[in-house]
Amino acid sequence: MNLLILGGTVFLGRHVVEAALAAGHAVTMLTRGLTQPELFPEARRVHADRGGGLGALPAERWDAVIDTCGFVPRVVSQSLALDWRRYVFVSSVSAYADLSMPNSEEAATQADPVDPANEDVAMHYGALKAACERRVLAFSGGIVVRPGLIGGPHDPTGRFTHWPVRLAEGGDVLAPGPASAPVQVIDARDLAAWLVRLATHGPAGAFNAVGNQTTMGEALATIGDAVGGSGRLTWRRPIEGVAPWSELPLWVGDDTAHAGMMATPNERAVAAGLRLRPLAETARDTLAWARSLVGDPARQADGRYQPRTLTRAKEAKILGLG
Ligand SMILES: NC(=O)c1ccc[n+]([C@@H]2O[C@H](COP(=O)([O-])OP(=O)(O)OC[C@H]3O[C@@H](n4cnc5c(N)ncnc54)[C@H](OP(=O)(O)O)[C@@H]3O)[C@@H](O)[C@H]2O)c1
Repeated sequence: MNLLILGGTVFLGRHVVEAALAAGHAVTMLTRGLTQPELFPEARRVHADRGGGLGALPAERWDAVIDTCGFVPRVVSQSLALDWRRYVFVSSVSAYADLSMPNSEEAATQADPVDPANEDVAMHYGALKAACERRVLAFSGGIVVRPGLIGGPHDPTGRFTHWPVRLAEGGDVLAPGPASAPVQVIDARDLAAWLVRLATHGPAGAFNAVGNQTTMGEALATIGDAVGGSGRLTWRRPIEGVAPWSELPLWVGDDTAHAGMMATPNERAVAAGLRLRPLAETARDTLAWARSLVGDPARQADGRYQPRTLTRAKEAKILGLG
C-alpha cells in the first residue's frame, strides 16, 4: 500500500517506518530533515516543515497517513486535507479530561484551550492532542490511538530506559513506593506494528494503546531479572524533590490527579490486533540499545538519547548514601 508517514526518524515513528517497510509497503516520509535525515534511504524522503504547508508532497492518493508528530489542530487540519483512505493519528492518554481515574475510550477528553490561537504544546499538550483528535474523528476513516508510556530502543527521553540501565548497574536503587501502584509500558515496536496494521486494515475509531497492567513492584522486579543486574530495590515514600515521570520514570507521584494514568484499559486495542511482548524483552532490548550508545558522544549529542532522569549522586543522597 501507499503509506505517508508524518515523522519517522526518532523513536515511535522510526519503528513505524521499519514495520511498514518490512511489510512491503511503499513509504513516503515527511520530516524537516533535521533529525537523522540519513535514515531509511529505501523510503521516499520529503523534507518540509509541516507547519508551513504540505506543498512539497507529491499529489497522490494515500492508502493511509500515519501521523506521529501532530500536536496542533491547525497543522493537523492541513494534513487531513490530503487525499487518503485512513488517517492514523498518534495522540496520548493525556488527552483525557480526568486522569485521576482509568479512562476507557468513551471517557471525556479535554476541551480546546480557551484561546484557540494558543499553540503552546508544552503548556497544553493534552488539550491540543484532544482538539486534534476531534478533527481526525470527524472523518469516517479517522483513527485515533492514545498511547500511555512508550518504552523500547531509540527512546530519547530515558523514561523507561532508566530502569533497565539503573538495575543493570547494581547497588541500592531508589524505588518509588508504593510497590502496589499500577504500571503500564507499551513497547514502541508493538505499537508501531499495530499502527501499520490499523493503517492498512482498520478499524476506525479511538483506541487506548497501553501495555498490560502490572505493578511498580512487579515491573521493577521483572526488569531487574531480565537485565541480570545486582540492583537492590530500596523503596521510599514519599520522595521529595524528585520530578515524577521524568526524573523517576514509571512513577506518577503521590498526586492523585494522575492516579489513573497507568491503569488504562487496553481491551479494545487488543481486540483490534494489538500484540504485546513481555516486559522482560523490552527491558533487555532497551538496555542493549542504551549500551550501544556508550562511548559514542556524537550519537548521544545529536538528541538521540537525552535523559532527564535522576543522577546517581541525587539518588545516593535521597537514600542517605551520599
Ligand atoms: N513517548 C511516549 O511515551 C509517548 C506517550 C504518548 C504519546 N506519545 C506521542 O507519540 C508520538 C511519538 O513521537 P516520536 O518523537 O517518537 O515520533 P518520530 O516520528 O519518531 O519523531 C518525530 C518526527 O517528526 C518529525 N518532525 C517534527 N516536527 C516536524 C515538523 N514541523 N514538520 C515535519 N516533520 C516534523 C521529526 O523529524 P525532523 O526533526 O527532521 O523534522 C521526526 O522524524 C508523539 O505524537 C507523542 O505525542 C508519546
